[in-house]
Amino acid sequence: MSVGKPLPHDTAALHVTGAARYVDDIPTPAGTLHLAFGLSPVARGALTAMDLSAVRAAPGVVTVLTADDLPFANDVSPSVHDEPLLATDRVHYVGQPLFLVVATSHLAARTAARLGTPEIAEETPILTVDEALAADSRFEDGPVIWTKGQAEVAITTAPRVVQGQIEVGGQEHFYLEGQAALALPQDGGEMVVHSSTQHPTEIQHKVAEALGLPMRDVRVETRRMGGGFGGKESQGNALAVACAVAARATGRPCKMRYDRDDDMVITGKRHDLRIEYRAGFDETGRLLGVEFRHLIRCGWAQDLSLPVADRAMLHADNAYLLDHVRIESHRLKTNTCSATAFRGFGGPQGMVGIERVMDHIAHDLGLDPLTVRRVNYYADAPAAGAEGGPSAPPQHSQGNVAPPEDISKTKESGDLASRGALDVPEPHVVGEAEGQTTPYGMAVTDFILNRMTDDLAARCEYDARRARVAEWNAGNPLLKRGIALTPVKFGISFTLTHLNQAGALVHVYQDGSVQVNHGGTEMGQGLYQKMAQVAGESFGLGLEAIKVTATDTGKVPNTSATAASSGSDLNGMAVKRACDAIRERMADCLAGLYQVPVEDVVFAENRVRIGAEEISFPRAAQLAYENRVSLSATGFYKTPDLAWDRKAGTGRPFFYFAHGAACTEVVIDTLTGEYRILRTDILHDVGRSLNPALDIGQIEGGYVQGAGWLTTEELVWDDKGRLRTHAPSTYKIPACGDRPEVFNVALWDGENAAETIYRSKAVGEPPFMLGISALMALSDAVGACGAAYPALDAPATPEQVLAAVRRVRHG
Ligand code: MTE
Ligand code: MOS
Repeated sequence: MSVGKPLPHDTAALHVTGAARYVDDIPTPAGTLHLAFGLSPVARGALTAMDLSAVRAAPGVVTVLTADDLPFANDVSPSVHDEPLLATDRVHYVGQPLFLVVATSHLAARTAARLGTPEIAEETPILTVDEALAADSRFEDGPVIWTKGQAEVAITTAPRVVQGQIEVGGQEHFYLEGQAALALPQDGGEMVVHSSTQHPTEIQHKVAEALGLPMRDVRVETRRMGGGFGGKESQGNALAVACAVAARATGRPCKMRYDRDDDMVITGKRHDLRIEYRAGFDETGRLLGVEFRHLIRCGWAQDLSLPVADRAMLHADNAYLLDHVRIESHRLKTNTCSATAFRGFGGPQGMVGIERVMDHIAHDLGLDPLTVRRVNYYADAPAAGAEGGPSAPPQHSQGNVAPPEDISKTKESGDLASRGALDVPEPHVVGEAEGQTTPYGMAVTDFILNRMTDDLAARCEYDARRARVAEWNAGNPLLKRGIALTPVKFGISFTLTHLNQAGALVHVYQDGSVQVNHGGTEMGQGLYQKMAQVAGESFGLGLEAIKVTATDTGKVPNTSATAASSGSDLNGMAVKRACDAIRERMADCLAGLYQVPVEDVVFAENRVRIGAEEISFPRAAQLAYENRVSLSATGFYKTPDLAWDRKAGTGRPFFYFAHGAACTEVVIDTLTGEYRILRTDILHDVGRSLNPALDIGQIEGGYVQGAGWLTTEELVWDDKGRLRTHAPSTYKIPACGDRPEVFNVALWDGENAAETIYRSKAVGEPPFMLGISALMALSDAVGACGAAYPALDAPATPEQVLAAVRRVRHG
């Protein structure tokens, strides 16, 4: 009764009235102290001395800690212990924390932190991709290389070849709530920490290490974040550990929140990279062979860079069947902030590479880029209807568009017989789903983008509008329009297989009210509401009876980060199992009391029917309690069927794929390079939606954030390694006025072929990559200015667009 309903976010009213509590809003005990880091002004060098006398003497300062004062581990790394909380003998980037000021107010701590005078023997920093390559400065011994078929041969023998490169910028998370933590010392040295984190267990783990405690002595609580977007998977560790260490040292509660500029300078961002590519293809646009070289700037510490770079490789195919492919990935170590998780976790970066190749091929052949994309699509799984199964009822389309129709389309098989001369294995027959595999050898059995693209192209009148754009461009010398329709296929699961597990703890109280706890965190995506809906469905209860409580390492242990979009997949199953266990116990008890078969006990609409009788759910809970039935249960879930060898680059890293497609139309001003997004149409696959309102919110937000990444959001470091864009005045995220003037979002009508919670699909990250259509639409518009290929880099800021217009015009 509650799953599938378009309910608003459970605390939407609290958000918009300002009543929702974030870490900085938690009332603190008297005597709470405030923390700030003293930061390195230099990108690279040996730290020889630090004069902190002025810091210690500053008003309000209680104590100042350096690396030497830390009682146990000096490490906040989520991976290989290469990230000290406070610098020891060397500094690695501008903004690295050197010392910790503990003061009576936030302002006093920040003011004092500026008074430190570190002595650093400055060395030339390694900042750029080229500098890192020249110095062979990297993580892992050499590049990671995955291959399928024989790309080199396929390219050199192909009728046509394009090659090029694209620079793709990073991205600041710009969560509205900055990083924050509060540590409350307890009896006997135990610690309670409130942290704005996607990963409470990681905070617990790092705080325990820093205090020399077993994990059981540290409890971490996270009620909500004001956005995380991947930026709070590991980047909150430093604040939480600093608070815990200072709380231990002073015996007082300690709180830390970064000022926005500090947050932007200190914390990691999306990985920027250069992608070099070479592609061989035929006259139809069918890709015969392709090579990619990813040159990824990881920053100074490893953090999550290896799995991020892996995921970029795992999405180098996006929606396209690649028979002969080679992907080479260099994880470069530079003297910049340590790049980290950001919505899509490398997937968007990998996808931009192949979308660029599609765009380049289409330009080379003078074909519509959508035609080239479609020639290369994986084949669809058979439609449910085609197999004689019941076709799914229409659901969840937004008002202004018609519900999706089930258009089955069989693709024509490309005539590849002429390729018999090649000394390479025969390519997979285009249009046949049977046996098609990704570059990493995973069978693609649930692809639906051929049908989805047909549907979206019809909804947004792609062909007619493309013709209108061409006509309009012919008559307008100054303003040029562009349109692009791009697909997304995104793999769902953590690639580190053991992370694909989750737990839940559910209590039914004597009054029939229900408390649900699970391992996921709430960052605005609506996970708590979805979990309440799952619990409501199990008990046949309306959501007023159910409360999802703050994520707490004391309630559900050993959790994974809420990441990889898998929050509702994993925790949803765990919550359902816990609820079902309690309901079954209640049913057994009631069946015995009323002397009816257990199948005749039915929970629905806040009531329990027991044979011919009916009682309220609270009455049922009361009876179960009086008959000494346990009304508390845990639930546990692990994703089945995963097998992944990351060294070899083969296996089945994903449980299933989520799909989407977006069509974006833009207009550019060829005199200034400025542009607007005029219209965006999206069709997105969330399986059988748990909550269409929340899902559409994720899709709209994801698209806008993705488009922002590739258009206006530009990070600039100077030649000393200083981030010059460390505030909203210099770093341009999309504002309300930047969203598409016409914005149609519809949900694809279908269920997940994989057995997920109520056959839904993960939605958190996949729509981010729909933003790639904005970049491709800009490329289309610039391409209308002349004959040369625009070769737009990202972000395609107005400056970039203007430069590209000039290149295209003047050759
Ligand atoms: N939506 C909001 N409003 N705020 C966020 O911080 N993070 C995104 C996505 N959507 C985010 C968001 C990222 S990076 C991920 S991995 C998923 O939400 C995590 O939540 P889920 O697994 O419950 O989808
Ligand atoms: Mo999301 S980048 O997996 O936190």
